[in-house]
Amino acid sequence: MTAKAMTAKTILLTGATSGIGLALFEQYVSRGDKVIACGRDEAKLARLAPRAYKTCQFDLNSPDEIKAAMQSLSLDNVLAQVNIVILNAGNCRYIDDAKQFDGQLFQDIITTNLTALGWLLQGALPKLRSGSQLVFVSSSATILPFPRSQAYGASKAGIDYLANSLRLDLLKEGIDVTLVHPGFVKTPLTDKNDFNMPFLITSEQAATAIIAGVDKRKRYLHFPKRLTLLLKLFSLLPASLWQKIITLK
Ligand SMILES: NC(=O)c1ccc[n+]([C@@H]2O[C@H](COP(=O)([O-])OP(=O)(O)OC[C@H]3O[C@@H](n4cnc5c(N)ncnc54)[C@H](OP(=O)(O)O)[C@@H]3O)[C@@H](O)[C@H]2O)c1
Repeated sequence: MTAKAMTAKTILLTGATSGIGLALFEQYVSRGDKVIACGRDEAKLARLAPRAYKTCQFDLNSPDEIKAAMQSLSLDNVLAQVNIVILNAGNCRYIDDAKQFDGQLFQDIITTNLTALGWLLQGALPKLRSGSQLVFVSSSATILPFPRSQAYGASKAGIDYLANSLRLDLLKEGIDVTLVHPGFVKTPLTDKNDFNMPFLITSEQAATAIIAGVDKRKRYLHFPKRLTLLLKLFSLLPASLWQKIITLK
């Protein structure tokens, strides 16, 4: 066995079919790691299949599909080999009229981005060995409040708490938790945005930053720093100042 094969990791990656997840897939596969590529779109998954260790199809909005997928990975003994779980899949939709608050949209985004993680964790955590890693892709949107982001921001703030709290309980199990706060990344998700996205980076740059941080088993990753440090600075200043800036027309 070559040294590379001996150090190759097995990675369970959600949202592998697009954007940041696809870039993570490409970079992990190109360095010899084995990726279990998860997604919703069967055609996109089929394109990854030849280079994936395994593909896994489920809709995050269906607990039954998630449970079935996790059970099948468990029965095939695949989950027991996993070194890194990257919970990256997610969706963003905006509340365009706060006064006419869209409860369905709110529920949909919370379900896709946050509730689904509970079912994934229920399936994966019992099988993870000591030394493995759990990575949550949240958003730098949780550093400060943004207009129209009530659903997306709340789902990601929930992920922040989930990750930070799980880290405490998984310490004794030897499982490390990394929380990721990306800034704006050019992907199909952000291609829909109709506003200026400062310090936009490519999905390849985002994937490189995530992989480097996960390799170092960092607790917290945020990038690009020129955006996230600015947001962190504003979060320390009076809330009225941020309110003026972010609502400026
Ligand atoms: N782009 C940014 O600027 C940015 C910034 C901060 C955080 N993030 C976070 O980074 C993550 C990846 O975002 P992205 O920009 O790469 O988005 P993207 O290009 O739209 O990719 C989203 C991925 O999530 C999967 N997904 C979405 N809804 C799903 C569902 N209901 N069931 C199963 N899979 C589903 C998609 O699968 P299919 O293609 O198979 O549908 C796709 O692989 C998200 O959690 C996002 O919130 C992104």
